Amino acid sequence: MTTACKGHPWVAAGLDLMMFPLRHLRGKVVGEASGKVLEIGVGTGMNFSRYGDIEILHGVEPDPFMLKRAQQRAREVDLKIELVDAGAEDLPWPDNYFDTVVATWVLCTIPEPARALEEMCRVTKPGGRLLYVEHTRSHGQRAQRMQDRLNPLWNRIAGGCNLNRNSVDLIRDSGYEELQVKACGSEEWTLLPVYRGTAIKPA
Ligand SMILES: C[S@@+](CC[C@H](N)C(=O)[O-])C[C@H]1O[C@@H](n2cnc3c(N)ncnc32)[C@H](O)[C@@H]1O
Repeated sequence: MTTACKGHPWVAAGLDLMMFPLRHLRGKVVGEASGKVLEIGVGTGMNFSRYGDIEILHGVEPDPFMLKRAQQRAREVDLKIELVDAGAEDLPWPDNYFDTVVATWVLCTIPEPARALEEMCRVTKPGGRLLYVEHTRSHGQRAQRMQDRLNPLWNRIAGGCNLNRNSVDLIRDSGYEELQVKACGSEEWTLLPVYRGTAIKPA
């Protein structure tokens, strides 16, 4: 399966650097994955080396420039990895297939995040987990106004990322339950509040 995504060559080239300050959070999230794992929007594959003892990692990534870098990274780690050119809104797996679904800083960018979450939940086994770390909408009203103002520019330079999207609320409103949310930094004023946690597909 292939997508019609043209991709963002410059964002793909700069992603590792842009995400560098957040690298300490990756292991905390993906290190919890187990069994058959699906990673949504793998980017350049920065999570690959941080997985523990999992059965297999399947990844989707619709941007060809990201995917090429991720394929290179996949060859460098000792992990069974299969990457697919696909968007999260239309996942090419049957229902109840994965033990764990991983989303790191990706719900901000997916064009139809509610539909993506529906698909992610569909392919998760009953009792299986979503592990996530996402930046989201700020709490403070001043910061929210600033996010709204900056978003059109940010969206263009950051490969479709939305600064003001409430990704955690989107998870809360999805088919997953038992949402756990942990703040990863200072929340009131920052334009990039980051949260991580888990949610479970009801049995
Ligand atoms: C900020 S990057 C994060 C990449 C990676 N998850 C990480 O943690 O480094 C957002 C990623 O979402 C991907 N993306 C965009 N649209 C998507 C979609 N419809 N389904 C899945 N991933 C998508 C982008 O191509 C990009 O790789």
